[in-house]
Amino acid sequence: MGNAGSETETAHEQAAAEDDLNVAPEHRERKERRIQGPVAKLRAAQKEAAKHQRTSERALAKLEREREASAVKLARVKGELDDLRRSYHLSGVGKKLDLRVIDGFSEIAHDVVAAGRTGMNYDRLYTLWQAVRAAPADAPVIEIGSYLGGSARFIAEALKAHGASPKFYVCDTFAGHAQTDPTIDTSHHDAGKFKNVSAEGTADYLSGYPALELVVGEIVDTSRQLTEHAFGLVHLDVDVYPTTAFCLRFFAPRLTDTAVMVIDDYGYTTCPGVKQAADEFVAEFPEFRLWHLLTGQAILSRLAAPG
Ligand SMILES: C[S@@+](CC[C@H](N)C(=O)[O-])C[C@H]1O[C@@H](n2cnc3c(N)ncnc32)[C@H](O)[C@@H]1O
Repeated sequence: MGNAGSETETAHEQAAAEDDLNVAPEHRERKERRIQGPVAKLRAAQKEAAKHQRTSERALAKLEREREASAVKLARVKGELDDLRRSYHLSGVGKKLDLRVIDGFSEIAHDVVAAGRTGMNYDRLYTLWQAVRAAPADAPVIEIGSYLGGSARFIAEALKAHGASPKFYVCDTFAGHAQTDPTIDTSHHDAGKFKNVSAEGTADYLSGYPALELVVGEIVDTSRQLTEHAFGLVHLDVDVYPTTAFCLRFFAPRLTDTAVMVIDDYGYTTCPGVKQAADEFVAEFPEFRLWHLLTGQAILSRLAAPG
């Protein structure tokens, strides 16, 4: 564009110069003055256009560099995503059944998760759902470690959904851990842990279930008051070694033949006391079997006596 402009300009200038030879000097000067303005404008426009062209070329080069950098980044992220898909924690993800759409279960789980009164998500709640489904009808159910009542509410709703209405004991100090072992329960020494709760608040949240009874206090003491001696389902969620060890010894012998105990946090590195207590228990009492689930829970059941 710049060249075409300057060729035209040169031709014009030559033609004008030839004309000027035949023109009187005063006319020539007037003519020169007349064309000075447009010529200056033309030159300024050419300069401006050249400047814009250089700016555009620089912007294009920058865009190209950014495109190349993005392509490199994208390839790296795709590689990382592939590694993640094959990784231990996520293998099979996307191929597994989505628990959030299982009829009957998902509506109850959704409400409990949304209420924010439990740290459990769909996966652990689904274990409880299956345990309720498998529990012998009408045998009493007990939860030790209930805090704000989220998992208890789920169990109560699951029992209702399965048409069962057994006695359901919901046990907690509602004042935090009664005891811990400082050499094992390292992450449970926060003095305020599980204390921001009131038995009244949890009772209120669980008030819609006539067969449910709140048992308030240290389980070592309150277990003595329990009149039941055979449970159809035990949910143990106390996080620490001494209470887990006590509850295993107290409640496992009180499981009915087909009942199970769901032990929360068995596979959680934050609750090493739970695993230690459960492992010691099955080592000492081989008539019980322990299944470690990938949800982090464990299932304890009694082996059937031979013959
Ligand atoms: C992780 S919370 C329970 C959470 C509940 N299962 C849920 O997910 O909705 C553990 C509870 O165990 C209770 N706990 C710990 N030791 C106890 C004991 N010796 N007797 C009674 N409750 C105890 C604590 O007070 C705490 O509320």
